[in-house]
Amino acid sequence: MHNQAQGPIGIFDSGYGGLTIFREIVKQLPQYDYIYLGDNARVPYGIRSYETVYRYTLECVRHLFDMGCRLVILACNTASAKALRTIQQRDLPKLDPYRRVLGVIRPTTEIIGNLSQSGHVGILATAGTVKSESYVIEINKFFPQVKVFQEACPMWVPLVENNEHESDGANYFIQKHLNQLLTQSAEIDTIALACTHYPLLSSKISHFLPSHIKLLTQGEIVTQSLIQYLGHHPDLEERCSKKGEVAFYTTESTEDFDTKATIFLGHSVNSRHLEL
Ligand code: DGL
Repeated sequence: MHNQAQGPIGIFDSGYGGLTIFREIVKQLPQYDYIYLGDNARVPYGIRSYETVYRYTLECVRHLFDMGCRLVILACNTASAKALRTIQQRDLPKLDPYRRVLGVIRPTTEIIGNLSQSGHVGILATAGTVKSESYVIEINKFFPQVKVFQEACPMWVPLVENNEHESDGANYFIQKHLNQLLTQSAEIDTIALACTHYPLLSSKISHFLPSHIKLLTQGEIVTQSLIQYLGHHPDLEERCSKKGEVAFYTTESTEDFDTKATIFLGHSVNSRHLEL
């Protein structure tokens, strides 16, 4: 009986970055209910160990389950790289085998090889995501012939979190990391922004990139993958409630969250505090 209950779709990120995924999902699937949870009190995850990212992520997933979510999307590359597999394989069977937790890496790695002509692709991400090698491993599963070049951009999340992403100061760090990526291979023709914060930098990134290089952001890719997933899992889809309601939770100050979320979403939000 319990397993038949309906609930919202949970969208989790270490902070605000997941809002770039959330906004695309809600745009294309407005009929569902959503709970967005940002662990702003403990951001950034990108610099933390496997153990810590796993522990923080699991704790937040549990809270989203407690709030009734049947499906949780880890809209954070770092959490997807360092925690998703263990949660799916070790924790979910014990917590509730009828609920699902999905990440943002697989949808990107499934298609990236089809978009590149040269077979040389670039990944821009946090230090944690790069070090995990998740993109290299996953892309090579789907496209064994594709060569993957990675660059960690540790200053990019702080630029966005501190509202400096449109400043002239941001240009230095954007150019630096793009140059470092492109010097690894002159043949790179497709680059994924493999951190959910980076779409806020995308106009500057495009400005500094040679025009033949395709830039992928994950919002649209993850949304398409979710649409397919729900289509293939009608039992789960039926358990996603559909009143078109959205709630925002943050583990930090709601005032800060509301101000910052407005930048990401283009409209005001009224978040609630979640005490961990
Ligand atoms: N949202 C995270 C990601 O996509 C980056 C922010 C962080 O370091 O916590 O990797």
